[in-house]
Amino acid sequence: MDISNLFLENNAFSDADNIICSGHEEQHENYFGAVSPPIIQTSLFVQKNYQAYCDDMQHEAERFIYSRGLNPTVQMVEEKLARLERGEACRCFASGMGAISAVLMANLSSNDHIILVNNIYGPTMALIKLMAKKFGIHYSVVLDGNLESIANAIHATTRMIYVESPGTMTMNVVDLAAIARLASAHNITTAIDNTWATPLFQKPLTLGFDIVIHSCTKYLGGHSDLIAGAVVTSHERMIAIRDFSHQLLGAVLSPFAAWLLLRGLRTLPVRMQRHQENVVQVIEYLKTRPEVENIRHPSLADAAQRAIIRKQMFGFSGLFSFEIRDGGFATVKTFIDSCQLFKVGCSWGGYESLIISPNRGYNEPALAADNIAPGLIRLSIGQESPAMLIADLDTAFAALSAR
Ligand SMILES: Cc1ncc(COP(=O)(O)O)c(C=O)c1O
Repeated sequence: MDISNLFLENNAFSDADNIICSGHEEQHENYFGAVSPPIIQTSLFVQKNYQAYCDDMQHEAERFIYSRGLNPTVQMVEEKLARLERGEACRCFASGMGAISAVLMANLSSNDHIILVNNIYGPTMALIKLMAKKFGIHYSVVLDGNLESIANAIHATTRMIYVESPGTMTMNVVDLAAIARLASAHNITTAIDNTWATPLFQKPLTLGFDIVIHSCTKYLGGHSDLIAGAVVTSHERMIAIRDFSHQLLGAVLSPFAAWLLLRGLRTLPVRMQRHQENVVQVIEYLKTRPEVENIRHPSLADAAQRAIIRKQMFGFSGLFSFEIRDGGFATVKTFIDSCQLFKVGCSWGGYESLIISPNRGYNEPALAADNIAPGLIRLSIGQESPAMLIADLDTAFAALSAR
């Protein structure tokens, strides 16, 4: 199968990104030449005398004093993530939601308005609704992601435009540079959840965005063995995020999780290449199946979406969805349970391929209200061989026909 035309023309990782992900620029001589960095597993750093402690406290954000503030292992991964996103500063958090709440809490006050563009991750939306109820913030949702719709949603009190692109449910892609220009003209902060694309496939700060957020639990960690989040932005914008959200809300990353993340990053380029190659082959297969409709993945974008993708993305990751024609709960259940290789699980971005549906049998009316087809299946394509993955799906389609 020739799949070369499905990739983007600019699909190659720069040497700079490869080097950042690898350990080549790490200071091995600082830790006995160990090629794998140590885990500085400490809560506390003691100072040589009281004057040294007093001096350090004047520069709390940059000194090793207490690991809720700064820890060398965590700092090592923060520096790498900042460089991958071409940002000045990064702070890591205990989860992606920790990073998202840090950005929202540091930037919004009561009566402020936020615009949510595209289909935002469910718990992020739930947090916004909670902040609206408890703290009196206001929000508008712009599902289509069009510039005109976003411009129409701007009020005098709008402080932030928060985007997910591609949207992880719909895979809709929005024009990041155009949104950044519009926001900057109105003095509005822009933030994006860049988890789907990773910094290898999309660098929103270079397109004018102010803040990038990641759930590192997904591709960045890459092995389904850690929960982590990150925020990358300018030094100036990081001050409020660090002083308030990182320090006072306190959902910081542990040194051990940071070390796992460093290890995951070493193979990020090779893993992303493999996810991409696998996903386009699986999609090519699904396109041949008469039971399948509405495959949603940016590699299948129409001309208008493709034009935006070409301007701002360098490749495609492996999370996508499709619908089983006329499918309901019984259909998705049979399909999912007939897969052996695809495991049932709600996360994504790890080695193992995963399968899930939003249809849980008891929630079909709620899905209909949200315009989600009852036959929707979500796949996270992992690192296995594409032939094995396709054979697994083939078995599941055979099980549907045998009913
Ligand atoms: C797009 C997206 N953003 C953020 C998160 C939250 O990340 P975490 O689970 O690390 O808190 C998720 C988790 O599934 C996600 O899918």
